[in-house]
Amino acid sequence: MRILHRRTVSQSIRPIDKTNVIGTAKLLVRNRALAIKEDSEMELKFRRNEAYQSLREEITPERIYMDRRRVLSAAGFLGAGTILGALPACSEEPQKSPLVGNGKPATAAAVPAVHPAPGAALTAKKTAYAVSDATTIEQGFNEYCNFYEFGTNKGDPARYAGRMTVSPWAVTVEGETDAPGKYALTDLIDYSKLEERVYRHRCVERWSMVIPWVGVPLHSVLTKLKPKATAKFVQFETYLNPKEMPGATRRSLDWPYVEGLRMDEAKHDLTLLAVGAYGKALQKQNGAPLRTVIPWKYGFKATKSIVKIRFLTDMPPTAWNKANAHEYGFYSNVNPNVKHPRWAQDVEQVIGGKGGFNETRKTEIFNGYEKQVASLYAGMDLKANY
Ligand code: MTE
Repeated sequence: MRILHRRTVSQSIRPIDKTNVIGTAKLLVRNRALAIKEDSEMELKFRRNEAYQSLREEITPERIYMDRRRVLSAAGFLGAGTILGALPACSEEPQKSPLVGNGKPATAAAVPAVHPAPGAALTAKKTAYAVSDATTIEQGFNEYCNFYEFGTNKGDPARYAGRMTVSPWAVTVEGETDAPGKYALTDLIDYSKLEERVYRHRCVERWSMVIPWVGVPLHSVLTKLKPKATAKFVQFETYLNPKEMPGATRRSLDWPYVEGLRMDEAKHDLTLLAVGAYGKALQKQNGAPLRTVIPWKYGFKATKSIVKIRFLTDMPPTAWNKANAHEYGFYSNVNPNVKHPRWAQDVEQVIGGKGGFNETRKTEIFNGYEKQVASLYAGMDLKANY
């Protein structure tokens, strides 16, 4: 049975069976109705949410915003893709010494023996990695999710992820490495060195968010994991337990969810191993206790709830590429000039920002991180390597 993927009104990627055209049409109508219902329910929830109300009140009037843009632009800060380092959100000075949990300076004793439970407060130093766009309200991030192991509707992960076991947690490291083994999360992540990075998050389905992630740069962990010179790629495999994950009992994807990066992409300073967001340890539906964040790529490149890191000589298979290679390439860099075969990619719907569900913005090449990452792809045809 061949599986195709069709987009619904909410741009969800939903698998359909090509062999049954009438069934497919019905499924699409049903999915469309469900998606509309789910989106409007979500929107109503947001409108009632206090954080959303105050966010709207805080929104800078457009005239002031434009003036601010002119000032920044005159100062040479704003250009296509220049979104790091100089904007209002990053004016906060990084703290002198990294702090852990209770706000005391980090010491060996302050490093937790067990990784923090979902929702536990984390202390992370502010960094210059921050975009100026309004941060998505936390409820939007927590409740509008893609985590197909729990189901294909946006609300399914929040509804069902509570069943997932996230402690104890170990990550197996294998392949082309001098440090293979099974690592506890606290051995992998230095909780005394957590950083907050406010990144744009762009899904291939054309919605986007702005998330204050908490984590460490992946390269700091790669150094511990000693990939050999022969390792050209890294693959991430994620947790799979159909007893805890109702969506994993269906073949919506070829489980387990796997994704990969070229080593230079993995080592890039922007690539983050996140353990939290909004100052708290990740909620289960967002990939507790450990996920990747690669802000210049479509969201599906970011693996939630990682259990394996594998260093490889060859380009690894990836979940969405296996499902539909024609639509989802290995690179999947955000690119408004490369259409998805079934929809344009030049505009995105901003979820849970100043406009609730009604805001759109133009998509930028490499999601606005061109200055930082374009050199990784110098000389490459970005249309052929989508
Ligand atoms: N990781 C796993 N294990 N399973 C998934 O279904 N979905 C991906 C990615 N990582 C997915 C996953 C997709 S399509 C996106 S857009 C992001 O997670 C969504 O992350 P968020 O729900 O935290 O915003």
